[in-house]
Amino acid sequence: MELIDGKKIADVVKQEIAAEVEKMVAEGRKRPHLAAILVGHDGGSETYVAHKVKACDQCGFKSTVIRYEDTVTEAELLDAIAKLNADDDVDGFIVQLPLPKHIDEQKIIEAVDYRKDVDGFHPINVGRLSIGLPCFLSATPQGIMELLGRYNIKTKGANCVVLGRSNIVGKPVASLMMQKAQPGDATVTVCHSRTENIAEYCRKADIIIAALGVPGFVTADMVKEGATVIDVGTTRVPSTETKSGFKLKGDVDFENVAPKCAYITPVPGGVGPMTIVSLMKNTLLAAQGAIYKK
Ligand code: GUN
Repeated sequence: MELIDGKKIADVVKQEIAAEVEKMVAEGRKRPHLAAILVGHDGGSETYVAHKVKACDQCGFKSTVIRYEDTVTEAELLDAIAKLNADDDVDGFIVQLPLPKHIDEQKIIEAVDYRKDVDGFHPINVGRLSIGLPCFLSATPQGIMELLGRYNIKTKGANCVVLGRSNIVGKPVASLMMQKAQPGDATVTVCHSRTENIAEYCRKADIIIAALGVPGFVTADMVKEGATVIDVGTTRVPSTETKSGFKLKGDVDFENVAPKCAYITPVPGGVGPMTIVSLMKNTLLAAQGAIYKK
C-alpha cells in the first residue's frame, strides 16, 4: 500500500506556481490577485479562507478578503460581485460557500464573471468541462486528477466508482474521469444516496472516489484488493485530541481499508491540500489569460 501524500504534492505544485509568478514579475507583469468574499463566521469557512490566503502568500499572489456579516442582503452581495467583475486588478475571485439561507446561492454563482470564476462553479465552466473544452475546473476534482497523474495511477480502462453526485465534486470528477485524457479514460459509475447495493459497485471498482460526507462509509468489505481509494470526506467531528476541539473524518474507514489498497489518500493530508492548490493554479491561469484571453 502506498499513501498518496497530498501535502507533499501540494507543496511541490505551490513551488512550481511561485516560480512561474516570479518569472511573470521579472517580465514586468503584475502578481496574480485572488479575492474572496466571506459571509458570516462559520468555523469551516473561516478556516478555508484563511488557508487560501496563506496559500496565496506562498505562491506570491496578492489576496483580498471581503467580509460581510450573515445579515448581508443578496443585493449587497451581488453589488460586491459586480465590483469584482469590473476590477481589472482582480484576476479571479470566489464567494465562500455555504451562504446564509436567505441568499440564493445559484444566483450568486451565476453573477460571477465566468472568466474570473476560479472556483469553476459557473454553468459556463461546468458546461465547458462536460464537453472537454478549456475551462476553470472546480478545485477538488482538479486536485484529485493531479494526484492520480503525479502518482502515475492507471485510469485508462479502469472501473471507477464515484460516491456522491454533488455539483462541486461528484459530477465534475465523474466527467473528468471519463474524459479522453490521461488521467481519464475510465469507465465511471456514479453512486448516490438512492443507489441500491452500493457495496457491490464498490467491490468491482479499481478506483473509488468517496465524496458523500458520511464518515467511515467505505468499509474494508466494500474494497477489492489492489484498489485505489480517494477520500474526499472532511466531516468535522468533536475531538479531545486536538487544540481546536475537532478533527476531520474521511468517508473511508482508513484503518481497515488501507491494507487492501494499492494507493489511498489519508484524511487530513490527502485531497484537502490539493484543493487549495488547484484554486491557486486557476488563479495563475486567470492572471495569464490562459483559459480565457484577457
Ligand atoms: N465551500 C466548500 N468548498 C468550497 C469551494 O471549493 N469553494 C467555495 N467558494 N466554497 C466552498
